[in-house]
Amino acid sequence: MCAQRTIAECRVPTCRIPEERLRRRLPPELGAAGPNGAPRPPEEARSVPPPFRAGELALAEAPRRQRPPVRLLCRLAAGGALAAPGGLLPHEDIIGRPPGEVVRLAGGGRLLVRRPSLEEYALLMPRGPAIAYPKDISAMLLMMDVHPGDTVLEAGSGSGALSLFLSRAVGPKGRVISYEIRDDHHNLAKKNYRHWRAAWEIGHMEEWPDNVDFILKDISTAAEDMKSVTFDAITLDMINPQSALSVVHPSLKQGGVCTVYLANITQVIDLLDRIRTCKLPFLCESIAEVTHRKWLVLPAKIKNCKSNQTAETQENIEEVTHQKDYDEIHIQDQIVLKDVERNELQKDVLLTESFSDDAETYCSVPYVARPSNWQDAHSAFLTKLRKFRPLHS
Ligand SMILES: C[S@@+](CC[C@H](N)C(=O)[O-])C[C@H]1O[C@@H](n2cnc3c(N)ncnc32)[C@H](O)[C@@H]1O
Repeated sequence: MCAQRTIAECRVPTCRIPEERLRRRLPPELGAAGPNGAPRPPEEARSVPPPFRAGELALAEAPRRQRPPVRLLCRLAAGGALAAPGGLLPHEDIIGRPPGEVVRLAGGGRLLVRRPSLEEYALLMPRGPAIAYPKDISAMLLMMDVHPGDTVLEAGSGSGALSLFLSRAVGPKGRVISYEIRDDHHNLAKKNYRHWRAAWEIGHMEEWPDNVDFILKDISTAAEDMKSVTFDAITLDMINPQSALSVVHPSLKQGGVCTVYLANITQVIDLLDRIRTCKLPFLCESIAEVTHRKWLVLPAKIKNCKSNQTAETQENIEEVTHQKDYDEIHIQDQIVLKDVERNELQKDVLLTESFSDDAETYCSVPYVARPSNWQDAHSAFLTKLRKFRPLHS
């Protein structure tokens, strides 16, 4: 009876708009009224994130023609300034603004300023040794099947990129133990981690887990430390990972995965040869190279094509105004093709079907899609080793 009434109530004419119907079903803190029954701010206000504060990290992006945007990372401080290609941007012009806005530089340039993702931070933070690239880190996390609450061993810490992603994957209830042989790298990894955590706390008003133990020690001499702990997964990004395997394998849980990040296939062979000759309890499940090819997709304009005259209606004028706002972010990036180039391009890149007679007459833009010349990650080999218990042990 009660259920019937609920259905009937939802059929009253005032409930016909789906959004309204949904809002009525939501609890007050998410629905029509805000917390404590206060009226909700307008839709737009609700989608605006909290403004930047001093001490946070900000990422400024300057668009470039036919190339990926320039990305600059800074820690906001009163009196600070960001040196961008189009001029200086005082940090005061960012602090207090919500992220995701376009700011204009005195020199006329424009920048889109926002909070960096972890991937962007890892790519832009100060580096000592080469980092494990985020594209490879994603694959390694999947290979190891890292879960919140896991305990993971890492060697070496390097610049701290992988440690950061592991920290996020294991979460506040998990633990990452990260060994590093060089004190400069150890300090840099700690610093990069500390900076990210501090900025996160200011910008998100919640703590990033403090779950990484950075240890300054050669992993191959850490056999004693390993006795008291069991790891859900292990990851090695260091020269000569073979030297670490015999030390760390007793602490990896049975059936657990050790990923090894290597720069070339010869190193993979050396690793597998050591496993074979030393009879280490690892089964090589896969060796993968993660290819991540960036593409350029741009509207193409045919040079000298006939343009269609349009009347200046109110709709057109509004569209032009809207276009100006839009251009604040998107530079008008087009590939201009001559007829002969168009024929050439059709041979080796994808052109959309809009290359019809109509498209030419009305000057509508077809798209050109091709791999970008700017590929920013090196290639590496990910070896997935599964620990097993031999039959007679
Ligand atoms: C390529 S870097 C690691 C980068 C790191 N994964 C990142 O994402 O920033 C390799 C690191 O392994 C360290 N290393 C080499 N041999 C080691 C060992 N036996 N024990 C601990 N660390 C070692 C090096 O000093 C170097 O910092």
